Amino acid sequence: MNSNLENNKANNVGATFMKAVRQHEFGGPEVLRYEDAPIPQLQNGEVRVKVSAIGINPPDWYLRDGYKMLPPEWQPVVPFPVILGTDISGVIEAIAEDVDGFKIGDEVYSMVRFPSFGPSQAYAEYVSVPASEIALKPKGISHIEAAAAPMSLLTAWQFMIELGHNVQNPLQPNKHEPVELKGKTVLVNGAGGGVGHFAVQLAKWQGARVIAVASGKQELLLRELGADEFIDYTKSAAEDIVKDIDLVIDSVGGHTTGRFLKTLKQGGALFPIFPLGFNDNEEAMRLGVIVSATQVRSSGAQLEKLAQLLDNGTIKVVIDSIFPLADAQKAHERAAKGHIQGKIVLTVS
Ligand SMILES: NC(=O)c1ccc[n+]([C@@H]2O[C@H](COP(=O)([O-])OP(=O)(O)OC[C@H]3O[C@@H](n4cnc5c(N)ncnc54)[C@H](OP(=O)(O)O)[C@@H]3O)[C@@H](O)[C@H]2O)c1
Repeated sequence: MNSNLENNKANNVGATFMKAVRQHEFGGPEVLRYEDAPIPQLQNGEVRVKVSAIGINPPDWYLRDGYKMLPPEWQPVVPFPVILGTDISGVIEAIAEDVDGFKIGDEVYSMVRFPSFGPSQAYAEYVSVPASEIALKPKGISHIEAAAAPMSLLTAWQFMIELGHNVQNPLQPNKHEPVELKGKTVLVNGAGGGVGHFAVQLAKWQGARVIAVASGKQELLLRELGADEFIDYTKSAAEDIVKDIDLVIDSVGGHTTGRFLKTLKQGGALFPIFPLGFNDNEEAMRLGVIVSATQVRSSGAQLEKLAQLLDNGTIKVVIDSIFPLADAQKAHERAAKGHIQGKIVLTVS
């Protein structure tokens, strides 16, 4: 611990333990334990945030389960006990000496250490975060809304607007590049979910015509968020009724994503947000379309830009459901039922 740094610029939290949700083994929601854990210590370049709300995301349950969806050679070694989660909103209560630009008391939001991982993650009362991964919370929205945004919104942003990093996706030879959206037709599959509802709004903001694909219960919301057309996938398969699309954002992705290739015009692009399982490269080449993906990465600088769009209402955050941190198991059970509308959030009392 860098005690000089911490003593110099920290509020005294008066305790060495906090409540956190940890797991000591892989498994279903039942492995999540609400228990005492050490308050994370500050390292150089970090702030410590007293957390108000936590947004939950698919990588949380991938880790909880032991990354069963990844090929064995990609499965990281996880040091138990482990705290899950990436997305937080809260208040800075300690700050390392070498951090400029923030102060104790600032309300901030963050996607913490993704895709890397550290001993201090989101499902906790206190989280230490590299200052490069935080931004001031948009003043006009609540901590619940701010915590719901980071991973899903950064994913949509890095796929569609600005990649913001140079890390190569090992699944493809070329760097991922967003495409022009103004005046284009964009189809968003899985449009009611975390990534999807932000993708719809970003495409609309950029001047695209947006076709949203989701189950029927999502139609009203998606039209309110700007969708020009809606396809209920429980009634019709989008790939059978649309063509000449410029860009498909497939937030369902996986091995079924290739079915959208035939909806694209020549020169169009398919961005599977979950690209594992795509095997139709030859068909994509034959049709003259691009298939490209990236992995979202933490970025305080991008969250700072996005804060303006969240503040002025350009981007709205939809909340599916809210659970206390102590009920993280129930939140994961809700997620496992699927058909999420927007985001699931945990609150810290
Ligand atoms: N590349 C990256 O860095 C990155 C980052 C974040 C997330 N991801 C991945 O992106 C995917 C989506 O994440 P998310 O947070 O948006 O998930 P989510 O919130 O669970 O959203 C998924 C949405 O898909 C809809 N859906 C389910 N089956 C469908 C189908 N057959 N056709 C159309 N829509 C369907 C669901 O609602 P309805 O069925 O009611 O329509 C739900 O709203 C996950 O696989 C996640 O791992 C990747």
